[in-house]
Amino acid sequence: MNTFLTQAGHAALAAQVIRPIEWRDGMLYLLDQRRLPREEVYLPLATAGQVAEAIHDMVVRGAPAIGIAAAYGVALAAAQGEKLEEAYRLLAESRPTAVNLHWALARMREVPQDAGALLEAAIAMHVEDLQQNLHMAELGAACFTAPVTILTHCNTGSLATAGHGTALGVVRTAFLLGKLKAVYAGETRPWLQGARLTAWELAKEGIKGQLIADSAAASLMQDGRINWVVVGADRIAANGDVANKIGTYSLAVLARHHGVKFMVVAPSGTIDMQTGSGREIPIEQRVADELLAIAGQRVAADGIDAWNPVFDVTPASLIDVLVTEKGVLEHPDAEKLQTLMRQ
Ligand code: MRU
Repeated sequence: MNTFLTQAGHAALAAQVIRPIEWRDGMLYLLDQRRLPREEVYLPLATAGQVAEAIHDMVVRGAPAIGIAAAYGVALAAAQGEKLEEAYRLLAESRPTAVNLHWALARMREVPQDAGALLEAAIAMHVEDLQQNLHMAELGAACFTAPVTILTHCNTGSLATAGHGTALGVVRTAFLLGKLKAVYAGETRPWLQGARLTAWELAKEGIKGQLIADSAAASLMQDGRINWVVVGADRIAANGDVANKIGTYSLAVLARHHGVKFMVVAPSGTIDMQTGSGREIPIEQRVADELLAIAGQRVAADGIDAWNPVFDVTPASLIDVLVTEKGVLEHPDAEKLQTLMRQ
């Protein structure tokens, strides 16, 4: 075990105000995002099966955070003497769209399959994600030549990553640099990642934001109130198409219509060069109840069913800027992504 990496990594992660994922005393602790913002409760997990269930049930969510949790899931399996192939299978099947999950599991397969080496690899991934986010946030904020007003969607902050966040990391850094005039957060129906999680993160860090109903985005742009839409990604195909939280595509169409810039912020682990275009990205469908009810209370009339895809695909042609830790691409396309991924 590389103790220097472990100690330095833990120190960097512990310095974060919001810590969605913690490794303590040989167990994985996940901040239960289903219960935020009402309660801050950590769920202790001891097996890969429990981690897979927590990912599926959205105790932990957000593409990079899912990948990191899955990596710790493999480390737990090795420590408990579980069958590793079964652990890999359970974790890989926990959610379909975020490619970071498969990317993280593939990285775990590259190291010796013993408990020490697997834990070290999971911690390294955890620490690396935080470093990448800090770097992307600087690159993203550098694209703003004057103070900006941003609309963001879903939750792409500390909760969705090892810390700082991807799109919300850019918002945070822009705020710290005095480049943020205002930020609007879409509530993100039906799971309310914007209303529950992004709003909670902004308040915790003293950034004043305004919540909008998802359906208010068009009016917001028509009024000329925002300069940039800044979002994360769950999977970026080789041609630059981006799968992200349902509603992202509508924001991209609206942004283009209103002359508002559209930025995607994601680590290279979100880029899937094996998937040619957005059409091939598996889109997760979740249970109808998530749409028919709010906080466990049925709001839709009886007798109606629901279509509940939780991601959509934004064509590359609608993306002005893609920020990754490897660099910034304007108008990403197949050729630019290939060059970027060779670096
Ligand atoms: O269903 P979720 O909450 O896991 O969806 C999360 C998103 O769509 C995020 O925008 C994406 O994972 C990027 S998070 C840095």
